[in-house]
Amino acid sequence: METTTIDVRQGDFNVEDVETLRKDFNWEEMKATFSWYHTGKVNMAYEAIDRHAENPNKKDQIALLYSSPKREESLTFDQLRKRSNQFANVLKKYHVNKGDRVFLFMPRSPEFYASFFGILKVGAVAGPLFEAFMEQAVRDRLEDSQASMLITTPELLERVPVDELPDLEKIVLVGATGVDVSNYIDFDHEMEGASESFDIEWVDLEDGMVMHYTSGSTGKPKGVYHVHHAMIQHYATGKWVLDLTEDDVYWCTADPGWVTGTSYGIFAPWLNGVTNVIRGGRYSPESWYETLAKYDVTVWYTAPTALRKLMSAGKDIAKQYDLSKVRHILSVGEPLNPEVITWALDAYDRRIHDTWWMTETGAMLIVNLPCMEIRPGSMGKPIPGVEASIIDDDGNELPPYQMGNLAVKEGWPSMMRAIWKRPEKYNSYFINGWYVSGDSAYMDEDGYFWFQGRLDDVINTSGERVGPFEVESKLIEHHAVSEAGVIGKPDAERGEIIKAFITLNPGYEKDDALLEEIRQYVKTGLSAHAAPREIEITDTIPKTRSGKIMRRLLKSWELGLPTGDTSTLEE
Ligand code: PRX
Repeated sequence: METTTIDVRQGDFNVEDVETLRKDFNWEEMKATFSWYHTGKVNMAYEAIDRHAENPNKKDQIALLYSSPKREESLTFDQLRKRSNQFANVLKKYHVNKGDRVFLFMPRSPEFYASFFGILKVGAVAGPLFEAFMEQAVRDRLEDSQASMLITTPELLERVPVDELPDLEKIVLVGATGVDVSNYIDFDHEMEGASESFDIEWVDLEDGMVMHYTSGSTGKPKGVYHVHHAMIQHYATGKWVLDLTEDDVYWCTADPGWVTGTSYGIFAPWLNGVTNVIRGGRYSPESWYETLAKYDVTVWYTAPTALRKLMSAGKDIAKQYDLSKVRHILSVGEPLNPEVITWALDAYDRRIHDTWWMTETGAMLIVNLPCMEIRPGSMGKPIPGVEASIIDDDGNELPPYQMGNLAVKEGWPSMMRAIWKRPEKYNSYFINGWYVSGDSAYMDEDGYFWFQGRLDDVINTSGERVGPFEVESKLIEHHAVSEAGVIGKPDAERGEIIKAFITLNPGYEKDDALLEEIRQYVKTGLSAHAAPREIEITDTIPKTRSGKIMRRLLKSWELGLPTGDTSTLEE
């Protein structure tokens, strides 16, 4: 098979030769680079922040560089250590203990990061929620995780059904100036009185650290549970793949409500001691380029949807900004189009390095290291210490170029340790010692992996993973909707958009105002990214005899493809 390759050497890298690194690599040896290897006890907050704050040469380096339209603020490693200590003391005062789930539902801000590390410092499990979530999405997650505390803002509190969440005992309000806080814990007030020193709760490698809810084809979102052990891989991939060194200025565009925003927006950069740019506010090509230029960003981790938008905004805009400090660009979350890579070579004079991983995998697994030759359209190769393969449904490995399940040999450090309260769900990911991703792919003869699609009905819209079931459930709560089937429809900019097929209850007829109302209903009930961009009224929703919605058939209809096997279709 003919493949184009791009091999443009663009500097010196932490890893000069991946094959040498891969040879004889094992994670156990990597652990020995950390001091906790000898004590057995660990805490991510210490390794990411306090360790640097204790180093006289590093403590005054800017750790967090926050920029939003309304506010600009920076915190050194020392300041971030002190603020997170203060918040850890607040948590202790309110009896938050090791293993408790403490959720954060707020926009990115310095307070978010101080709170986040405060949570880890008391040994609790942090659960960041995307700020765009509406009531149903918030309720599902708080209910399932049985979070005992939530940190939020007065504006977002409206979307928290406090009275319906018996486990949620305490709510901390950030930025509550002028608000009646009598039923809540006032962040600013508590922080003022809190001590800047704190004795970290040392935990085991396998103790819980962070939880992210993500979607599958069926059921409510599931709580993907990660432990402190993951830090080895965050650190290693930060060094190898992001190519971070201590004087880098790094910007990951993802929100911490998604796994990229914690693993690579928090852990990997700070474990590697870099200055981390955190940007609040909305996307526009101008404001993004300004962020890169103004803060002299050197390493930039973003997503295909954003890159496609920047591409359609045109390279002339890019050329108006001084992006000369940007030395390394990476992408994650959805297929990275070869034409984006080609465009970036021209517009930014840089290659874009695709990386593949999932909420469940906790960290990057298949990547394009900066020293590697890039094959546009390929996700790259497994990182050292990781074995990936293409397997059939029985767990047998397939030869090059054969399409099958993209699978990874169990045993990498950042692997999820549980699906919260659902062991059967967790076990369903594995076959013959392989973690099965749900993606289909093939491998070429040189070991590069090529993504083909999802094998289940999970939708990937603008890099955000949406479960059709959640959207369908919300749709049928609307009084006009009888049944609903939801699919991802290919879209040039967003990868996929959400398309809903619905049947109407008696007495309702198709009209545009109604369809818009239904769309808004999902948007305000669940979240903006889960609202269908297209809604089509049909006479029936195809189902199997056992009542399962045949989304595959809906998709074939939509795309005008052959419908395949319909033997299980209901009469
Ligand atoms: O289908 C793959 C796609 O995103 C899914 C994982 O989504 P999520 O858990 O939200 O995590 C996203 C960020 C880590 C995968 O199963 N995906 C992720 N990276 C790529 C990708 N698809 C193609 N190319 C990628 N590089």
